[in-house]
Amino acid sequence: ARRRTAVPRRRTVLATVPVAVAALIGATGPAAGSAGAPGAGDPYFPLSGNGGYHVRHYGLTLRYDTASRHLDGKAVLTARATRDLSRFDLDLTGLKVTGVTVDRTPAAFRRDGQELVVTPRHTLRAGRGFHVTVTYHGTPKPVTDPDGSADGWIATDDGAFVANEPQGAMTWFPANAHPRDKSSYDITITVPRGRTAVANGALVGRRTAHGQTAFHWRETQPMAAYLATATVGTFKVEQYTTHDGIHVYNAVDPREAARAAPVLKKLPSVLEWESKLFGPYPFRSAGSIVDHAPGIGYALETQTRPLYDSAPDISTLVHENAHQWFGDSVSLTAWKDIWLNEGFATYAEWLYDEQHGGDSAQDAFDALYARPANDHLWAFPPGDPGSGENIFDTPVYARGAMTLHELRKTVGDRDFFRILRAWAAGHRGGHGTTAQFVRLAERTSGERLDGLFHTWLYTKGKPDRA
Ligand code: ARG
Ligand code: ZN
Repeated sequence: ARRRTAVPRRRTVLATVPVAVAALIGATGPAAGSAGAPGAGDPYFPLSGNGGYHVRHYGLTLRYDTASRHLDGKAVLTARATRDLSRFDLDLTGLKVTGVTVDRTPAAFRRDGQELVVTPRHTLRAGRGFHVTVTYHGTPKPVTDPDGSADGWIATDDGAFVANEPQGAMTWFPANAHPRDKSSYDITITVPRGRTAVANGALVGRRTAHGQTAFHWRETQPMAAYLATATVGTFKVEQYTTHDGIHVYNAVDPREAARAAPVLKKLPSVLEWESKLFGPYPFRSAGSIVDHAPGIGYALETQTRPLYDSAPDISTLVHENAHQWFGDSVSLTAWKDIWLNEGFATYAEWLYDEQHGGDSAQDAFDALYARPANDHLWAFPPGDPGSGENIFDTPVYARGAMTLHELRKTVGDRDFFRILRAWAAGHRGGHGTTAQFVRLAERTSGERLDGLFHTWLYTKGKPDRA
């Protein structure tokens, strides 16, 4: 998405497409639609996502040569126009696009910053389903986020660490890459024999031929593009099914195996414990990808299969798996609401400690509350971090969790856990906003809570204790 200019876009198609294309569209008749918005309208990441269509399914066929770091890709998107569209954008950065078709007919395309602008031969009518095929290749490069971290396709010494939050999807596949748009995925990745490629959901096929192995992964539940992965490495694989029938697939870099083993062993009990607190695990697959990727500095809640840059500790395991409910199943509609992900996952860590012989959540709250007014914890309110630079910063995680603790103390444990479960159940596979969470908490508890949330989520500086 190009940044919006002060001049409003013309709504007529003839003003915005090349003459030759306009002539073609003209031949199809009047009311030819207009260009889809170049972003989903998120002020923190105005160029992420696109308007005018929804992607129902991504079919990604990738080949990664770990030696040359070259990626070959073919993406087939099954989409639906949400209004008459003369052209639309996909998010894609770097890489060379060699062809685009819409419903098997070659379409005109051009690159514009992180946008791939596609002009189909014919206008797509509102409500119409269509297929877009994009072929591309090149050496993927990660994006640098506003906070200086890197995300996207990050090459490692034996493959790639692929983590897309918030904007890395566009470094390896063309997408409507904003969490507002959720889709199912088939991801097939071919890598040199001996390497393993791990993506989301279930491994539905695996074939070795000519020194190459193709891994076919399928995620049928709606997934935001930032939660997709295609991580490649030399992994030890372990698979089993839990008592609840969840299929677990753990892939572990041998260099991390000894430290990872005692923590990964707890995964079934962590999922069971989280299911008791938050309601049934939202997916059928689970697991872990434990990479050896020095320099990344974070883990990610990739859907069904969290990704770690090194052996996780138990808190990180609890955190990333709590995100499966809060962030993955129930998704953001705007990055500003990021505390709904990070505050909840952090509070899950506190609850785990409390119920497994560690500090109580109150202890965790008190230790944070003791920090002086000039501490970074109070630098900005978690419900309004201000920009994409702040979405993974301490106030979002820690003060976000403190907000939940204040809620719990106010409504009591019974209502608090009813609220968490109703949130996960009521928005399962979909989206939720902060306003909806506040309303749910008020409805469930029968209490007025706008003051509490206003103080903890939106007031600058260190809040007064209730
Ligand atoms: N959501 C991740 C977590 O806290 C953090 C992702 C950080 N991403 C980044 N590009 N810095 O579990
Ligand atoms: Zn998190």
